[in-house]
Amino acid sequence: MGTAHPRVLAALGRALSLELTAVQQYLTHASLLEAWGDASGSDRFRRETVEEMQHSERIVKRMIALGVAPAASQLQPVSTATDLPGLLELNRQLEDQLIVHYAEATRFCRLIGDTIHAEFFQALLEEEQHHSGDITRWLSELRPPLQRQERARF
Ligand SMILES: [Fe+2]
Ligand SMILES: [Fe+2]
Repeated sequence: MGTAHPRVLAALGRALSLELTAVQQYLTHASLLEAWGDASGSDRFRRETVEEMQHSERIVKRMIALGVAPAASQLQPVSTATDLPGLLELNRQLEDQLIVHYAEATRFCRLIGDTIHAEFFQALLEEEQHHSGDITRWLSELRPPLQRQERARF
């Protein structure tokens, strides 16, 4: 069984809370979009839910390898909006929380020379950065740059 600094264990616990918050939020948004008649958007959120679930599983497995019981107790309530761009903005904020957390956890693990967990958190950091980029691209497809909208009006 491996060992870890108490702050690394705390970082794993917070990571699980954030990932499960994302699972709950994306699952809810998938159902909302389905109710709004946007089947392809709903599918996209459902796939995102599965990815966040897989992140949660990786964290749970890591905790088990360290002999600690997962106890995520800080689930944030689901944030909702009245349209798809609004939902995406909220999801980008949630991804940003994950990015900040994983960047900080990676930095701390490097500082104390815990390479295993530095790499563990770094991999999650890169995946969340990728998610955030996907959301930004999706948003820009929905909201063309102002200039273009203005040109279209004249
Ligand atoms: Fe995630
Ligand atoms: Fe994510």
